[in-house]
Amino acid sequence: MHVKDNTFLITGAASGLGAATAERLVAAGGRVVLCDLSDAVEAHAERLGDAARAVRGDVTSGDDIQAAVDAAVALADGRGLAGVVHCAGIVSVAKLVDREGNPADLDAYTRTININLVGTFNVMRLAAAAMAKNAPGEDGERGVIINTASIAAMDGQVGQCAYSASKAGVVGMSLPAARELSRHGVRVMAIAPGVFETPMMSEIPDEAAQALAAAVPFPKRLGKPDEFARLAEQIITNPMLNGEVIRLDGGIRMQ
Ligand SMILES: NC(=O)c1ccc[n+]([C@@H]2O[C@H](COP(=O)([O-])OP(=O)(O)OC[C@H]3O[C@@H](n4cnc5c(N)ncnc54)[C@H](O)[C@@H]3O)[C@@H](O)[C@H]2O)c1
Repeated sequence: MHVKDNTFLITGAASGLGAATAERLVAAGGRVVLCDLSDAVEAHAERLGDAARAVRGDVTSGDDIQAAVDAAVALADGRGLAGVVHCAGIVSVAKLVDREGNPADLDAYTRTININLVGTFNVMRLAAAAMAKNAPGEDGERGVIINTASIAAMDGQVGQCAYSASKAGVVGMSLPAARELSRHGVRVMAIAPGVFETPMMSEIPDEAAQALAAAVPFPKRLGKPDEFARLAEQIITNPMLNGEVIRLDGGIRMQ
């Protein structure tokens, strides 16, 4: 799948990994629909120029994501939606039992699962239905879906029951979705980032961020959003990448 002249939907595109991916795909000659809950998505789309459109939307809403997919199909000028890079998500921390002995809040758990896991399914189902209508390209390829997991899916820390479970669900869907969508010529991949310098991580105190950077075997630093975007671009353009989760983490394995 080429990036040039093809159209991609990017969720979570107002910030961090999604914003960097939108920038990279536009620089490579692609067109992008940026979808995010935040109104900052409009300013980012404007910065990216004519090749970008913004759609305010919630990844857990069928109507919102259908509108984003429709906007991408319209922007594609007859070529259809070529790919999705799904980055929207939230981080959450809560112990099962807190210091005072109180049980974790069930609604907070459900919210994380709903946005990170159900949101991913929602984006995949609507994007795949649109891609299945595309004319087949080389090898019969019609589209590619890239989801965002996390190394917390494998190396979850204390307090990450909800976040780790949501991301493990994203990992778990990759292979069955890739197997199912193979008949439509649509690939499904996931990227499991380590710790990246984005607004999501900016709430971590400096000391904790330095400790995390020191724990990375090489390079001893946090990941840069464009390094995520470069992997997304490689996945789009390399047709043999399918049904797999790629850790992008400098070799870190959390204790
Ligand atoms: N930054 C990291 O270190 C890191 C590590 C592993 C995984 N991830 C994952 O990468 C993805 C992107 O994270 P980021 O670091 O760029 O975070 P970020 O907070 O900078 O960006 C996330 C974006 O998602 C949007 N969003 C949140 N909920 C939404 C919803 N319901 N509908 C639509 N948009 C919504 C936010 O408005 C925000 O713009 C997330 O899924 C996150 O879990 C990040």
